[in-house]
Amino acid sequence: MQNPESQWFGTRKVTAKEKTGRVIDVFDSVADSYDLMNDLMSAGVHRLWKDQMIRQIRPRPGLSYLDVAGGTGDIAFRIRRKAGPARITLCDLNAEMLRVGRDRAVNHGWIDDFEWVVGNAEALPMDSESVDVYTISFGLRNVTHIDDALREAWRVLKPGGRFFCLEFSRVDEPFLAKIYDAYSFRIIPRIGQVVAKDRDSYQYLVESIRKFPPQKALEKRLYQAGFDRVKITNLSFGIAAIHEAWKL
Ligand SMILES: C[S@@+](CC[C@H](N)C(=O)[O-])C[C@H]1O[C@@H](n2cnc3c(N)ncnc32)[C@H](O)[C@@H]1O
Repeated sequence: MQNPESQWFGTRKVTAKEKTGRVIDVFDSVADSYDLMNDLMSAGVHRLWKDQMIRQIRPRPGLSYLDVAGGTGDIAFRIRRKAGPARITLCDLNAEMLRVGRDRAVNHGWIDDFEWVVGNAEALPMDSESVDVYTISFGLRNVTHIDDALREAWRVLKPGGRFFCLEFSRVDEPFLAKIYDAYSFRIIPRIGQVVAKDRDSYQYLVESIRKFPPQKALEKRLYQAGFDRVKITNLSFGIAAIHEAWKL
């Protein structure tokens, strides 16, 4: 057991293998309602957070992009819009999420613009030093062995490559944290029940946020994985945060 979160599925204690299986089940179950639920739960704010990460990436043509836990394509599509035709690969553990993403891409008229790969962030099916920009958005929290995923990110990046992680994080201000907790634990599972007919998956979502390492702890683990110049950008008082880092 290398890090504490690998034994937690939300607040339930499980084995590492069981956790990965359960994460696949959760995203199988939510794939079709995933995009609608994101908008409802965050009142659309997740779009602003994703836009902010794209501003920090400054996508341009000629680079290769890997969006891990790419799901239904929100980050890859934003990169495509800014960079134009580029080498953009989405890699996700869950074929169902990628299927929804592929349908969305076709609806945008992007028939052949992305590579879709089913794979695990902990053991990426990509060559070492093959990627210029690695992104992971609301994915790292679900990964069983976070440190393995960070080491894999470092391995596939070229020297001079950049890493970006957008993830739920910690609200520091105690009063705001209280309101946010009440909203998360009381409202989000209910929205999940009514809209997606799946309370458990959204209960998992809320609980997994609380188990994820806070800003400074994740920063430390990025340095331990070999990254340099880690920069943290808090979003909405720390409800989410972007960790940006370099492979030098
Ligand atoms: C909350 S969704 C995020 C999707 C998208 N990146 C976004 O920001 O909207 C989390 C995604 O992580 C994927 N995932 C979970 N564990 C993973 C792993 N170990 N490797 C790759 N993908 C994983 C899930 O299948 C799911 O598609």
